Amino acid sequence: ALNAKVEALLKQMTLEEKIGQTVQYSAGFATGPAASKLSYAELTERGAIGSMLNVIGAEETNRYQHIAMEKSRLHIPLLFGHDVIHGEHTIFPVPLGLAASWDPRLIEGVAHTSAIEARADGLAWVFSPMVDISRDARWGRIVESAGEDPYLGSTIARGWVKGYQQGDLSKPDSVAASVKHFAAYGAAIAGRDYNAVDMSDITLRQVYLPPYHAAVEAGVATVMTSFNSINGMPATADHYTLTDILRKEWDFDGFVVSDWGAVAELLNHAIGPDGTTVARKAIEAGTDMDMEGNLYATTLAAQIRSGEIPESVLDEAVRRILRVKFALGLFDHPYTPVTSPYQPSAANREQARSVADETIVLLKNDAIEGHGALLPLAKSAKTVALIGPLADSPKDMLGSWSALGDPKFAVSLRQALQERLGDKLLYAKGCGVLSGKDELVLEHASFTGGTQETAANEAIPDDSKTIAEAVETAKKADVAILALGESADWMTGEASSRAHLGLPGHQEQLLEAVAATGKPVILVLFTGRPSVIPWAAAHVPAIVEAWFPGIEGGHAVADVLFGDVNPSGKLPAGFPRAEGQEPLYYAQMPTGRPAARVDLSHMPTDPAEKFVSRYIDEENSAQFPFGWGLSYTRFSYSKPTVNKSEVALDDLAPRREPAITVGVDVKNTGSVAGSEVVQLYIRQMYGSVEQPLRELKGFERVTLAPGEEKHVTFPLGFNELSFYNVKSQQVVEPTTYKVFVGGSSLATQETSFDVR
Ligand code: IFM
Repeated sequence: ALNAKVEALLKQMTLEEKIGQTVQYSAGFATGPAASKLSYAELTERGAIGSMLNVIGAEETNRYQHIAMEKSRLHIPLLFGHDVIHGEHTIFPVPLGLAASWDPRLIEGVAHTSAIEARADGLAWVFSPMVDISRDARWGRIVESAGEDPYLGSTIARGWVKGYQQGDLSKPDSVAASVKHFAAYGAAIAGRDYNAVDMSDITLRQVYLPPYHAAVEAGVATVMTSFNSINGMPATADHYTLTDILRKEWDFDGFVVSDWGAVAELLNHAIGPDGTTVARKAIEAGTDMDMEGNLYATTLAAQIRSGEIPESVLDEAVRRILRVKFALGLFDHPYTPVTSPYQPSAANREQARSVADETIVLLKNDAIEGHGALLPLAKSAKTVALIGPLADSPKDMLGSWSALGDPKFAVSLRQALQERLGDKLLYAKGCGVLSGKDELVLEHASFTGGTQETAANEAIPDDSKTIAEAVETAKKADVAILALGESADWMTGEASSRAHLGLPGHQEQLLEAVAATGKPVILVLFTGRPSVIPWAAAHVPAIVEAWFPGIEGGHAVADVLFGDVNPSGKLPAGFPRAEGQEPLYYAQMPTGRPAARVDLSHMPTDPAEKFVSRYIDEENSAQFPFGWGLSYTRFSYSKPTVNKSEVALDDLAPRREPAITVGVDVKNTGSVAGSEVVQLYIRQMYGSVEQPLRELKGFERVTLAPGEEKHVTFPLGFNELSFYNVKSQQVVEPTTYKVFVGGSSLATQETSFDVR
């Protein structure tokens, strides 16, 4: 029925009206270099626009929708899209933090709340989930991703799509999702945003494509192209990924939108002499809608009239776009009722807090003299000094891409600790996120409401003075909490790649100066990426990764610090020891010259230590590896078992029930209840193509009371055991698999089975 409606409408459309459906403009603020300034009302009336982004709110969207529905010839509704990335008004932790929950059901809940709020704002389309595998923490957009691993990334991707789309786009509480950025954007060379990507087909298929594929299998309605090129072809004009793989291999029947200006940027990629050529390449490759490129609008008509582009190519793009509009019910319900302005409800706050609670990762928790582990702090805490530029910055709690999140609704750590401790809380900022002039520029950058001139006229802050004040504050307290990290807007997200991953500005000096007082120090990191913190890892007894934790962030961090919540987050991306290790990921390939010990970090003194795959000045391993995260209790793992030690190759054919079941007993051996993410890794011991030394192939979150034990099982079949061979075929081969089970990618309990 839906297809019949689409075909009937298509038949009535003029060439201009068809092209109009493939055109998207930002008729609001800009989320790219510069937005077009056109007469959108007039274009809408002519049927020359199919979609708008960055027009938000029932009143604004209705205003344009009335024009489309009442004044345009065919009354085709506009589709309004927006970057709803980790909430629309109720802002949750940034996606990298959400991934640290390893909890797809939690993600589903976040997506569903976001969908409800987006719909209330007239938006039926969200530019999420971002599922780009990110193995290089220099890349600023790692914050929007689920981190380094394809298995975790795919599981999380499914959660997002289910939550947004509710299995039925016509429901009033579902929105169309857009999986992005297709493809392999996270592999930008050297972690520099927008840079080229160069990789083998095997790596593309085995590591980078699975999360997009998982989203497509979960029914995602749209796909957004990426800015990068892949092996020399810009993704927005890449027939191989957009058509051969996405449409033909994966049967994707939704539509593809370019990223902002990406069709026009094909000129910079230099794959054609003019806009006409590159627009043709984009639409013929499979990019159905041109976001802010203004090239489909201006170049397609003549090329179709001259026969340069077959009209069938355009028809197919229009069909796909109209199908989504019909599926969303926009023709029947184009308008959005105007409601009162957003105020976070108790339920919103409760959800935001419990979600954030699950995303916090306890990286380190050593015992201090005369005391056990430093955390959790006793409820009857003594005097606490809260220090650092992220301690009292509600705006940063929201994180980058925080949609309509309003800092006035965000709870900082200072506010949360004040509520708990009253006058036992001492506070000092210590220093800015950045130092000197950079800090002023940050405060006055145009996108945060200031101007460069105001920055130029202000006195540069004297960090040595404020650090000395912070040290005095720490001396008056029993324990110091340092809230350090990045500026959410300025240093994380798009166009925020960093070559240095340490604490920015003078924060490292602040940390070391406070630690020198001898007071026990807890470091709370508010960051959008793994950091390089070797000094802290060696000298600070307790380290908590809080990411940018959303509107209830301060409360959630306080929950963990005081033990009301037992931390259970696990790193979705490993922390490097040094920037020079990047890209760093646990699923390393074997080499012909493996290092005999993982902890080699000194200059080699004998040949056995010299001619191996290593750095001469740093260990190969991560500071904190993928999957890492401590708890206030302890978990023990039994040796895993397999249901058979040998399995026939035929039993591992595609679509068959998984033939192998791995079982493990996990026990809470400590004295408080806690949740553990039980992780299963495999290693294929030999095959026609080399395989990673470890790959995540299963995980389960379990909650155990003290002394409680649970038997956890993991199925292994074709999906988990297959890999891509040199012909890009997905196969299983006769081999031996080792299986490791534990609480991180360092899991030591192992078993094995053979495939014959
Ligand atoms: O969705 C985003 C994308 O992630 C980056 N460029 C702009 C798009 C729309 O705002």
